Amino acid sequence: MVRDARGPFYGARGFPMVTRGGRAMNVAGKRVLVTGAAQGLGFAIADAFARAGARVVVTDLGAERVSAAVAKLPGATGFALDVTNPEQIADVRAKLAPDPIDVLVNNAGVVFGGPFLDVPLAKHLATVGVNLSGLIAVTHAFLPDLLARPAAHLVNISSASALVALPHGTTYAATKWAVLGFTESLREELWVQNRANVTVSAVCPGFIATGLFGGAKPATGASWLTPEAVAAAVVRAVQKRREFVMLPRAHRVLYALTAGLPRGVYRWLCRRTGVSHSMVGWTGHRAT
Ligand SMILES: NC(=O)c1ccc[n+]([C@@H]2O[C@H](COP(=O)([O-])OP(=O)(O)OC[C@H]3O[C@@H](n4cnc5c(N)ncnc54)[C@H](O)[C@@H]3O)[C@@H](O)[C@H]2O)c1
Repeated sequence: MVRDARGPFYGARGFPMVTRGGRAMNVAGKRVLVTGAAQGLGFAIADAFARAGARVVVTDLGAERVSAAVAKLPGATGFALDVTNPEQIADVRAKLAPDPIDVLVNNAGVVFGGPFLDVPLAKHLATVGVNLSGLIAVTHAFLPDLLARPAAHLVNISSASALVALPHGTTYAATKWAVLGFTESLREELWVQNRANVTVSAVCPGFIATGLFGGAKPATGASWLTPEAVAAAVVRAVQKRREFVMLPRAHRVLYALTAGLPRGVYRWLCRRTGVSHSMVGWTGHRAT
């Protein structure tokens, strides 16, 4: 294997020998900004980083919710931040400028389940606004800070629904497919630019017991993930510079197995295992 400027994991002609981006990162002391971190998976991620010794920056809608989360996390700071508001993003970045972030976790997200036409257009567009445009806006603002650090990492929370059809969650799935495409493309762009100091992870979990997917039904053989288990995987992904995290791990095997199937067989499997009906009973946070 040739050790080139992009790090020890690149072989001859830049072929990545393992799905990792660079040397391991010790997150202790690192400044980690998490969006949507006042509750659910975002809070669990902030908590896991704080326990690993990182200096966490909690951001979310509502100053009171942010303060309540910050109070539970040693060494944390926080800001109210709506990811759909570019001025607020710029303002938070300016406040952090003297001590810029090393890790950005784009976690904020919404879902409005239901048959496509029953969900008002405004909610479809809001889903795109938060899950996709918001993620792009936050990344656009903070990537220069990551690039200026000796070692930095970007985590984008996508979803298992980036890899499979999600009836009754059409626009949500569309945003998560888009987040995966954005993440993969940006990672490769940084590689083309020889920016080995910034590594990028896409995280694709199945259903997590946070209430966001209250009323939904995991497919046959799958069960609800805990936010703590997913958060631990996110911290590990940053420490080990993992490109792609899929939870539960069995999904990864299933995905590999089904990727090559004829579409009709694949659809039949999705219907038989309940994937296609998983969102029929969705009530969201109302169910919790
Ligand atoms: N819960 C699941 O089953 C599941 C599965 C796969 C992926 N995800 C993804 O994980 C992430 C976190 O979801 P969760 O389950 O913790 O949901 P959650 O509803 O508990 O938390 C989402 C957080 O995002 C925040 N948020 C919403 N709009 C925002 C905005 N405009 N600006 C800033 N913050 C905003 C909310 O205030 C909330 O704190 C989302 O991106 C979601 O798509 C969740």
